Amino acid sequence: MQQDDTTRLHTVQQDDIFGLQFRQYLTTRRLGRILRSLDQVDSTNRLAQSLASEGAPEGTVVWARHQTSGRGRLGRSWSSPAGKGLWFSIVLTPAVSPATVSQIPLVAAVAVARSVVRVTQLTPRIKWPNDIMIGRRKVCGILAESRVQGDTLEYVILGIGLNTNATAGDFPPELTTTATSLFLETGKPVDDIALLANILNEIELWYDLWLERGFGPIQEAWQAQNSSRPASAI
Ligand code: BTN
Repeated sequence: MQQDDTTRLHTVQQDDIFGLQFRQYLTTRRLGRILRSLDQVDSTNRLAQSLASEGAPEGTVVWARHQTSGRGRLGRSWSSPAGKGLWFSIVLTPAVSPATVSQIPLVAAVAVARSVVRVTQLTPRIKWPNDIMIGRRKVCGILAESRVQGDTLEYVILGIGLNTNATAGDFPPELTTTATSLFLETGKPVDDIALLANILNEIELWYDLWLERGFGPIQEAWQAQNSSRPASAI
């Protein structure tokens, strides 16, 4: 862990107001039961990785209001302005072959899309491989980073960036025509705490289904979300 992580990290307690509100919505057994929240961090994926390598248990979530160096896919950066979206990472330690790790972000995409439908009544679509779109604009990106030793998968960090309360002026100029937020699409402010719990509930359901039954059910759900490319290409 980096020096200033320890000073800023806050483990959400059962009895603080935020914790009470969050837990009122959370129905999981593992995901989010340990929630580390921060005002600011470089990247929740980077911090979750560091916690995982120190033994953080499966389901540990790192959530930040603001990321100064959010990581995107393919070495890109991820714009993460303060309080404008959900920027969080989950530590996963599935007992599966490293060869199947590429399915995990698709599991998450299905779950996040379902959660967005439930909470906003919008009709998001998954764009290959795991971007979540509303119309032609991206509202959510997913980045899974894993550590493998030999043939053993040690952990996966599942990072999710969902634009919730961003307004048009919150996006950097290069994203103004390609990004959107739930607020922009519905005109209604989003309760980030309730939505985070809702997404974790949904991810745990789909993740457990994937652990028990493999990729089949996920592939079906993923294809039903208007994906443009067959999941058999995975
Ligand atoms: C993409 O490029 O589409 C993936 C973006 C993933 C962004 C999220 S925000 C929370 C987590 N921490 C990071 O640094 N990246 C992911």
